[in-house]
Amino acid sequence: MNKLKSLFVLVLIIPLLLQAESEQDLSLLKPPMDEFIDSLIEKMTLEEKVGQLAQYAGGGSMGFNTGIDDKNKELVKKGKVGSFLHVLGADFLGGLQKIAVEESRLGIPLIFGLDVVHGLKTIFPVPLASACSFEPKAVEKTTRIAAVEAAASGIHWTFAPMVDIALDPRWGRIVEGAGEDPYLGAVMAKAQVEGYQGDGLSFENTILACPKHYVAYGAPLGGRDYNSAEVSKRTLNEVYLPPFLAAVKAGAGSLMNGFNDINGEPMACDKELLTDVLREKWGFEGFVVSDWNSIAELLNHGVAKDRVDAGKKALSAGIDMDMTSGIFGEEILKSVKKGDISEKLVDKAVRRILEAKYKLGLFDDPFKYCKVEVEKEEILKDEHIKAAKEMARKSIVLLKNKDGVLPLKKDLGTVAVIGSLADDTRAPLGSWKAFGEEKDVVTVLEGIKNAVSRNTKVIYSKGCDIKGNDRSGFKEAVSVAAEADMVVLVLGESDDMSGEARSCSEIDLPGVQKELAEKIVGTGTKVVVVLMNGRPLAIPWLAENVPAILEAWFLGIQSGNAIADVLFGDYNPGGKLAVTIPRSVGQIPCFYYHKNTGRPASDELNQHTARYFDLPVTPLYPFGHGLSYTEFKYSKLKIKNKKVKANDSLEISFSIKNTGKIAGSEVIQLYIKDVVASIAPPVKKLVGFKRIYLEDREQVKVNMKMPVNLLGFYNKKMKKVVEPGEVRIMIGSSSEDIRLDDSFTIEGKETEISESEIYYSETSVSSD
Ligand code: BGC
Repeated sequence: MNKLKSLFVLVLIIPLLLQAESEQDLSLLKPPMDEFIDSLIEKMTLEEKVGQLAQYAGGGSMGFNTGIDDKNKELVKKGKVGSFLHVLGADFLGGLQKIAVEESRLGIPLIFGLDVVHGLKTIFPVPLASACSFEPKAVEKTTRIAAVEAAASGIHWTFAPMVDIALDPRWGRIVEGAGEDPYLGAVMAKAQVEGYQGDGLSFENTILACPKHYVAYGAPLGGRDYNSAEVSKRTLNEVYLPPFLAAVKAGAGSLMNGFNDINGEPMACDKELLTDVLREKWGFEGFVVSDWNSIAELLNHGVAKDRVDAGKKALSAGIDMDMTSGIFGEEILKSVKKGDISEKLVDKAVRRILEAKYKLGLFDDPFKYCKVEVEKEEILKDEHIKAAKEMARKSIVLLKNKDGVLPLKKDLGTVAVIGSLADDTRAPLGSWKAFGEEKDVVTVLEGIKNAVSRNTKVIYSKGCDIKGNDRSGFKEAVSVAAEADMVVLVLGESDDMSGEARSCSEIDLPGVQKELAEKIVGTGTKVVVVLMNGRPLAIPWLAENVPAILEAWFLGIQSGNAIADVLFGDYNPGGKLAVTIPRSVGQIPCFYYHKNTGRPASDELNQHTARYFDLPVTPLYPFGHGLSYTEFKYSKLKIKNKKVKANDSLEISFSIKNTGKIAGSEVIQLYIKDVVASIAPPVKKLVGFKRIYLEDREQVKVNMKMPVNLLGFYNKKMKKVVEPGEVRIMIGSSSEDIRLDDSFTIEGKETEISESEIYYSETSVSSD
């Protein structure tokens, strides 16, 4: 509750409290939700209570289900289920809800959950791609649409956003998050929570968000999914926690734990993080669901002796709902009966789950999400498809464009489109395709055919598979390339090479795709490469040998149209990398906010620096990198207040001009560096950004207000502080391409700042 709101409540409540003469009077003052839930809990048997804590997979499988078996129906009738996941469909879920409300003793409605991560039926770019848009408003909009479609199909709750910071492209789930940067991660976390939950959960088209996987799941040793994280408290606080804090502050109604342990403490039973930090420090009021079977996995972690012990540990640590292990529904019941766990602990968890159901309005109308006509109307609406194309265009990153090879002319004589991903309807759907269908996908080949002039011939050859070593298609691909005026070569990964349990030990182009590229380039026909992939790929040969590369990630159903718009200049690309692209797997972890070290890395011949002997130390493409078909000139940096205090905001302005002949967008990026601090600071830290669209020759003034508290870090005593001293500010087009810089001074003493506040810079644009 914000301060003003609490004051308002106090002003209303104090006179009533003074008048209240009996306990009965006092109970009248309880907010209606509390009163409702109190009386419901009073009526519940212990069996019904633990039932609310249990979540099962709808059809019992990992796949999505549009029907349910009799065993599950029986559980519902007995009040032994709080939620189902992996289920979908207004009609089916309406029927299931009917059993819960009409045939169970207390008629408590069920809550239905699904991984609606980047769309339900209208599939948008994967989160790593949409983070590259650097446009939170656009991300919020597509997330809103995902929620509208999900809500229309009976879903109340999504297991998203995934807000895990990831520095290791071997980890397959890097595709599900916003990349490597905690500030960008926080901004995108907030945008997505606001998108899913819209104007409030009581509306019919909003769903509960569930930021996951709390926490440091994105830091598995060796990049192996589910592996342990060895993370210091400082790094945890400064890198991995901020996007979760942002999601909580944005009002996320639920949260999911990670499968991992941090320094030996499994996240399914880490009381310090699940209760002390999440609830007490940050004020989280939602409920926590365990990740799939992760309570039972406490046995594998070696911290629980049996299922009873695992359940007790998880519940006491702060997990409220058990996804699929069955422990909360079965073993907790026995433990309470035996007196090993107090019923009060169960009541706490039950209350949080019932509160979510109440906030969703399910006690008023359990069927509000199950209206078949609404479902028909909302799914894959024209305006949703339009938004999918818009988001896909915004997400594309132009990595290289030597001599302005791109955009291509639409009246080329012959365009050869090569590569098995060029006509792949599956890959663009990405890692969490929910109910996305291949039939709705526009491939690159189709997009190109739609875009070129009637006289242009488009010829296609697969060349090779994504994986494997079959080279039998090379010959045909080479002859197709040789007869063309231009080649668009589409390379990368299949959709199932990234995502959960898809860690890789190599991050090169899979199979024989690099060899194919060598052969095609060898024909002498100009080649532009389109990459489709769920993780940064090490492509040094391509970077050196082809003139233009587009990083498209997996862009959703409108993939091909969006890529063609960029290839042929109907859209000027402006996405920027949300994650560093390394030169080779050996550079991992490769991220821009590393420390300087005592011997800063240098590629000069002096060997005694923090570099590799056999590889340049710089990445292939740095964080924040992305080109445009136009150029931008930065000038006139002014700092309004060169001396500030911890709780002030730094106010800066500068000019930016589109110096080219076409309209375009630039993501201006603000980085800072503490010059001297008590703990070695990162070489750069992103603290603000804004994507600005400019007409040709247009110039504007950019005004930025940066809360100085964004410089906060954890000192030796693990207090979050802002230290006095000089701070460098750098404004750039990428983390490496810094265009303007200056410094300011923080005056006064070291200031301790709140650990439960999240700060954002504000940017506005005015005429110059
Ligand atoms: C994943 C979660 C997901 C859950 C339900 C788990 O395996 O780690 O991210 O939400 O399954 O599908």
